[in-house]
Amino acid sequence: MDAVLTARGIDKAFFGVKVLDGVDFDLHGGEIHALLGENGAGKSTLVKILTGAYRRDAGTMQLGGISVEPRSVAEAQDLGIGTVYQEVNLLENLTVAENLYLGRQPRRYGLIRRARMRDDARALLTRYGIDADPDETLAHYPVAVRQIIAIARAVDLSGKVLFLDEPTASLDAREVQALFTVLRQLRAQGMAIVIITHFLEQVYQIADRVTVLRNGRMVGSRAIADLPRRDLVALMLGRELAEATGQRDPDATPPDTPAAFRFQGYGKRGSIAPFDLDIRPGEVVGIAGLLGSGRTETARLLFGIDRADSGQATVDGQPVTLTSPEDAIRLGFGMCPEERKSDGIVGDLSLRQNIVLALQARRGWAHPVPRREADALAERYIKALDIRPPDPNRPIKFLSGGNQQKAILARWLATDPRLLILDEPTRGIDIGAHAEIINLIARLRADGMALVVISSEIEELVAYSSRIVVLSDRHHVRELRGDQINAQAIVDAMAQPGAAA
Ligand SMILES: Nc1ncnc2c1ncn2[C@@H]1O[C@H](COP(=O)(O)OP(=O)(O)OP(=O)(O)O)[C@@H](O)[C@H]1O
Ligand SMILES: [Mg+2]
Repeated sequence: MDAVLTARGIDKAFFGVKVLDGVDFDLHGGEIHALLGENGAGKSTLVKILTGAYRRDAGTMQLGGISVEPRSVAEAQDLGIGTVYQEVNLLENLTVAENLYLGRQPRRYGLIRRARMRDDARALLTRYGIDADPDETLAHYPVAVRQIIAIARAVDLSGKVLFLDEPTASLDAREVQALFTVLRQLRAQGMAIVIITHFLEQVYQIADRVTVLRNGRMVGSRAIADLPRRDLVALMLGRELAEATGQRDPDATPPDTPAAFRFQGYGKRGSIAPFDLDIRPGEVVGIAGLLGSGRTETARLLFGIDRADSGQATVDGQPVTLTSPEDAIRLGFGMCPEERKSDGIVGDLSLRQNIVLALQARRGWAHPVPRREADALAERYIKALDIRPPDPNRPIKFLSGGNQQKAILARWLATDPRLLILDEPTRGIDIGAHAEIINLIARLRADGMALVVISSEIEELVAYSSRIVVLSDRHHVRELRGDQINAQAIVDAMAQPGAAA
């Protein structure tokens, strides 16, 4: 089969540092091709070059045998190359239809044909099985739906080639399957699809071929059928990795200490039904549930981002009010959010400044964290979390997605919180760093920190949680302890209807 898209000898440097070095890449029509590698390996950069967002320093690129040089994303789209980037860029205040047709609204006599746009949008949404109203603003929908809308837009725009940079990061299992159904349809129509993901199960489920990048070099391109998982991991990391087994960590057992943090009848109408939750120092309370089950809403209440309209919170037996994150931070809480782009990183600030930000907020802006202390903290957490490149002065927007995620975690660790809430701490993190973060959670627990960890990775929760709270339909439906904790029990509880509980 002839390649639709061929790239040869692609080089790219930022600030004199080479991040892509002579990369070759071949993409065929009618294939789903996974682009894999560790955080910072160069995956997003390669995609940005092939889709016109960045200019390459050297190399050639051909589409259908003809040399092309897309100078912008729009030019690439005109050539038939569509993209959904790692950080979705849609406009929250516009409607679903406007987002789908942004920049190409159907017009007559220079006027936008709203009715036509709405009808087209409805047809497109139906085709991709998206349950969304074309006239509703995008802000109304959860990240997962926005993601699928971004994909529908890109697919509709591009004819031949589609690039998806971590499209499944915010999707639950059912939505991933819906997306894969769409991708298989497109493949059957002859489209060439490139997908970046850190979920290897998904690679084996959907990909025909994989190309692996390591430190900016292409280290292998294989048919997935010829590549056992162990070999793939070794190719990505350049070493072997003992895979997580989902075995319970025997030290996860809850300690026999009183609960320092208690939430009783805590809830917020329309968001999460009232729940009781006790958290002890030295334990991890895992929170499981499907997307939309109320996991993030629970975290937002615990951290004071949303205000509870029922119930009572106490810390060390004293009633406390949590009306803002500032209150929570003052009480020694920390929270690493799910949505790092909107809630997390401050792009123009350096890695060091991003790391000390929460500590600074706790101490108050009138008392700047001394430079020497900031340097020490940055150095410590860059090392502990293996943030790359390890340059504290670099604006964080220049770090790869996974490394930004680690920096947000570092920010909360730097405040040395008594209670740390982690929402999807390993999302977007490569499998090597994944294992390190799981070890870190166990270490923090052993050091006596109280943790609440929300994760879609059930095996992970089983490994490190002392107790597991399962949510369904915005209710806390089940708490699993000790021998009750296993993946099957969690899945069963997740399927339980919440309102009936
Ligand atoms: N605009 C930029 N300016 C400077 N450096 C950059 C820029 N974009 C990326 N880099 C650097 O290039 C390297 C590759 O980053 P890239 O985003 O391509 O990684 P990735 O493989 O997509 O990683 P992840 O899995 O974490 O998303 C990283 O070291 C990153 O810091
Ligand atoms: Mg990336």
